[in-house]
Amino acid sequence: MERPRRLRTTPQLRRLVRETTLEPRNLILPLFVHPAPAPEPIASMPGQYRHSLESLVEIAGQAREAGLGGVILFGVLPEEAKDDQGSGAYAEDGIVQEATRRLKAAYPDLLVVADTCLCEYTRHGHCGVLQGDTVDNDATLELLAQTAVSQAKAGADIVAPSAMMDGQVAAIRKALDAAGYPHVPILSYAVKYASAFYGPFREAADSAPAFGDRASYQMDPAAGYWDAVREATLDDLEGADLLMVKPALPYLDLVRELKARFAKPIAAYHVSGEYAMIKAAALNGWIDERRVVLEALTGLRRAGAQVILTYYALEAARWVREG
Ligand code: PBG
Repeated sequence: MERPRRLRTTPQLRRLVRETTLEPRNLILPLFVHPAPAPEPIASMPGQYRHSLESLVEIAGQAREAGLGGVILFGVLPEEAKDDQGSGAYAEDGIVQEATRRLKAAYPDLLVVADTCLCEYTRHGHCGVLQGDTVDNDATLELLAQTAVSQAKAGADIVAPSAMMDGQVAAIRKALDAAGYPHVPILSYAVKYASAFYGPFREAADSAPAFGDRASYQMDPAAGYWDAVREATLDDLEGADLLMVKPALPYLDLVRELKARFAKPIAAYHVSGEYAMIKAAALNGWIDERRVVLEALTGLRRAGAQVILTYYALEAARWVREG
């Protein structure tokens, strides 16, 4: 008789046949940084902060100690520092540029990824510049390219465009190459949905659109495989080095699909709402946080994610180490 239970009989047998691994190097920690003297807790994401430059260096040091794959930076600006062009995103002395310089000075061997988007820097909160009530795709490309170049110049090891403008990867690749950064890889948010799971992030980054929503540029969750494959194919052809799916768990099928189709590392973003749900249940004592988090992240690895962006990166690295 076929008895699958046979291989589950002892811890030694289970260990022997286990294929999926989760290691700290697979994890990237998202960090928020603001131009203020002190860190500020984020209400909808217990345990996460809008960091000051000082506290950012401190937590990035922990990420390095923990052996994480790296960190990804998001800037947060006070309302009065925003404008309609999102110029804070590509300012030489912008908050992410300054943060990147500080991190690379403190830890040259820490991998620093810069999120490349305008929504944290525009007064209207959209991911590009407006033409009337709609986001002007082609005018935005130039600003995204400028943002990526300024991030590379500040020392970012990877740039990660998340604005969902058509042609953004090609525009950024071309600009990086022309500016002397042909070696800086692009981690593309290739398959990014218009998702309700970004709610806590938008509170954290104060980046909710002032009117309307992002449905005319981010993807429709119900569109289907064709849209995901089309987006990923374009970013692949435009020269993305890694392809990301976002959010993660509701779109696990697409992680699998991309893994099978593309000869590039696949990333998945376990987003703010996914973090907040687990955290809220854990704080209520309804679930075993450690086991739930490790199970979720292991599931992403099993589906094919080489890289996982998660607010749980530090805890997960510790739990993995503890065994
Ligand atoms: C910027 C961006 C967002 C997230 C990552 N980059 C917000 C959005 O698209 O509205 C969300 C990440 C998260 O929810 O953790 N465009």
